[in-house]
Amino acid sequence: MDRHITHPQAAAPEEYTGGFVLAPMAGYTDSAFRRICRSLGATCVVTEMTAAAGLSRGSAKTELLLGFADEERPIRVQLFGSRPEDFERAAGIVTAWNFSFVDINAGCPVKKVVSSGSGSALLRDIPRLLDIVRATASNTILPVTVKIRLGWSPDEPLPESLPSDLTEAGAKALAIHGRYRSDLFSGKARTGEIAAITRLSPIPVLASGESSSVESSIAFLRESRASGLLVGRGALGNPWIFRGLKGTGAGYPLPGELHSTVMEQLDMMAAYIPERHLYHIMRGHLVFYFRGFRGAPGFRNRAVRAESRSEIESLALEADLLLSGEHENAD
Ligand SMILES: Cc1cc2nc3c(=O)[nH]c(=O)nc-3n(C[C@H](O)[C@H](O)[C@H](O)COP(=O)(O)O)c2cc1C
Repeated sequence: MDRHITHPQAAAPEEYTGGFVLAPMAGYTDSAFRRICRSLGATCVVTEMTAAAGLSRGSAKTELLLGFADEERPIRVQLFGSRPEDFERAAGIVTAWNFSFVDINAGCPVKKVVSSGSGSALLRDIPRLLDIVRATASNTILPVTVKIRLGWSPDEPLPESLPSDLTEAGAKALAIHGRYRSDLFSGKARTGEIAAITRLSPIPVLASGESSSVESSIAFLRESRASGLLVGRGALGNPWIFRGLKGTGAGYPLPGELHSTVMEQLDMMAAYIPERHLYHIMRGHLVFYFRGFRGAPGFRNRAVRAESRSEIESLALEADLLLSGEHENAD
């Protein structure tokens, strides 16, 4: 994987104004999964959220998290934190590493993140969020994007001036998860509220919050009036959703593809994840791959105990045969 390249290439505007982007998902959207999604049609991908403070301190663990392959480009690196000076230093570092954009996380609802003043806590401290955007933009030639939620809670929505203020601070695009922090991940994402922010925004908006199928994602994109979509949970175990969204093929695996994709992902992961962690991380993906066909719960039960490449290969082959049979019967 390439890193430490010193000729940064800023992304072209069309790469942040639309399309179907793989959403950042901590624990899932590592380099292997991002490469698979890009090869199936994702317009752009985003790293898992990464601590700006860790990066600016030169933490080796944080650095390891940020390896990526050239075919992933355009790629956003997502930073989280609460101190503008950390973002400023981190922005310089990721620019030299040849990312295409820098994304600021102002949406993560997790207690540990919020209690340190990061993630969606920034939605309650707009002056700090704006300082973070300014500090980031001051130290990079890359476009800076910001991922927000609708606000802290329905009682504490975002100020109407926020899209303009973020733009003035240096943001080039927004991503809006159509839920409040108080919703966490439950309930339907609110398209009306995203549309209202999109109308006020001088810069392009990507909508996030519904990706369970090709059809529902397209409807969500239309209703939210955004220029593009972040595809999150709908891509887990189904990276083919990008092919369906792009209209270049089926939004589900064709015969043989479940097996070949699972093995390709595992082999790519094995190149940078030590074996003692590899199967544990892959199991997290397998429980998503083994969904939506008769007998899937049995596969998931076996998947969460898988400890070798050969076990995973047998499971993937068996599941593929079952799934292919179901498609044949449905035709
Ligand atoms: C397991 C998981 C991890 C996530 N990690 C991040 C993250 O690191 N950064 C971020 O901005 N959003 C994160 N999100 C939120 C997603 O990017 C997305 O906004 C949300 O899941 C709604 O979209 P979806 O319905 O398409 O999944 C995460 C979501 C999930 C389910």
